Amino acid sequence: MGNDGSFRESISLHSDRDVSRARVLVAQWASQQGFSVVERTRAMTAVSEISRNCVIHGGGGTMYVSTLYNNGSPGFRIQIVDQGPGIENLELSMGRGYSTRGGLGLGLDGARKLCRAFRVESNAGAGTTVTLDYWR
Ligand SMILES: Nc1ncnc2c1ncn2[C@@H]1O[C@H](COP(=O)(O)OP(=O)(O)OP(=O)(O)O)[C@@H](O)[C@H]1O
Ligand SMILES: [Mg+2]
Repeated sequence: MGNDGSFRESISLHSDRDVSRARVLVAQWASQQGFSVVERTRAMTAVSEISRNCVIHGGGGTMYVSTLYNNGSPGFRIQIVDQGPGIENLELSMGRGYSTRGGLGLGLDGARKLCRAFRVESNAGAGTTVTLDYWR
């Protein structure tokens, strides 16, 4: 725990089992912070999609969860980071139905709708960082 009461945990993402672990970790954070079952499920679903992208498209990486306050409302920030090829066409990829791997192309668009704030930073050859914020 930091001096200010902040807290951060991380988990390595390299397999389907890691994706399951990431879901569990986020569920624990949501429960501990008093989020409803619905909100917790939204966070778990979003994390499934983004961490699966990290494993499949990004060659694996790390998920960080840390405490967050938004205007006094407690919550958490999830960051999923990889050093993979980056998202080639970010604008297209953020939309529904675009996939470079024969997927449904619903992951990014779905996850964006399942959190309070969503940010993707991606550069060709320099990896991808997706940030999802939750507050009550
Ligand atoms: N971490 C990443 N690194 C590189 N490319 C990515 C990453 N995440 C997403 N992408 C690119 O964005 C596209 C869209 O991602 P999205 O999750 O929406 O669909 P998908 O993974 O292809 O299919 P699915 O519906 O099964 O999730 C991917 O096909 C891929 O090209
Ligand atoms: Mg996906």
